[in-house]
Amino acid sequence: MRIVYLNGDYLPETVAKVSVFDRGFLMADGVYEVTSVLGGKLIDFAGHVKRLERSLSEMNMRQPDTMGDLLAIHREMVTRNDLVDGLIYLQVTRGNPGDRDFHYPSADTAPTLVLFTQSKPGFANAPLAQRGARVISVPDMRWGRRDIKTVQLLYPSMAKMMAHEAGVDDAWMVQDDHVTEGTSNNAYIVNDGRIITRALNHDILHGITRAAILRFATEAQMDVEERSFTLDEAKQADEAFFTSASAFVMPVVEIDGTILGGGKPGPVATRLREIYIAESLKSAI
Ligand code: PDD
Repeated sequence: MRIVYLNGDYLPETVAKVSVFDRGFLMADGVYEVTSVLGGKLIDFAGHVKRLERSLSEMNMRQPDTMGDLLAIHREMVTRNDLVDGLIYLQVTRGNPGDRDFHYPSADTAPTLVLFTQSKPGFANAPLAQRGARVISVPDMRWGRRDIKTVQLLYPSMAKMMAHEAGVDDAWMVQDDHVTEGTSNNAYIVNDGRIITRALNHDILHGITRAAILRFATEAQMDVEERSFTLDEAKQADEAFFTSASAFVMPVVEIDGTILGGGKPGPVATRLREIYIAESLKSAI
């Protein structure tokens, strides 16, 4: 049985309980992070904590008192769950004010901090990465602050179901003819070896994997251009791929039924995936 973390305690997953008045439950008033673990070590941990601090601050949400202990808590979760390869999910909500009220509670309401692990043995060698993902496009119907990693995941969840019903692997979201991002990942195209991905603003999540990939690509003398691209441009691109803490770098071989790169993962995506996994393992803590 998994051991989860709840507000200072390590508990069996069936024992840990959160109040029905918790604002995460009633209002989706919470933020989260997903950190990958390879060989028992945390990938890009500092980046995830930094983004968590930013999400909390943008939401005017109190930091958990244990903010400074997050590395130790993550490590303890790895140990207690014998986690080798997989993910650590962390969520902070505005806590339990004892009733339902649209207004934020006073600052003395403690935030709720929850962590749990998901074991995914060997997930760095996911078969999908060899085959390449197929995606459909869907309109982006999310709210306007997608740079904050909130737990309001209903629309991404609906979009994943649309992809599932269409028999493909995922969906890319489109606003004003331009791709914003994937349901749970950042989107890229490649043309003549040049990597193109949307610039950072409120429209997309500032992916930790994205930051690492752009850094590695630049170090490897690859051309990077941060700008929006249209769905049509994506369908005509040499290659496409997406990135996230759980997918690393995932080649895309089909968009809305249009086949890219002869239906096989492209060289740039394949190389970036290799570089990302190798470099992340080197700096894992
Ligand atoms: N999703 N864009 C969205 C909308 C996301 O939900 C995610 C992450 C990303 C990629 O961010 P990062 O590289 O920091 O993982 C981009 C996580 C993995 C999830 O919800 O499970």
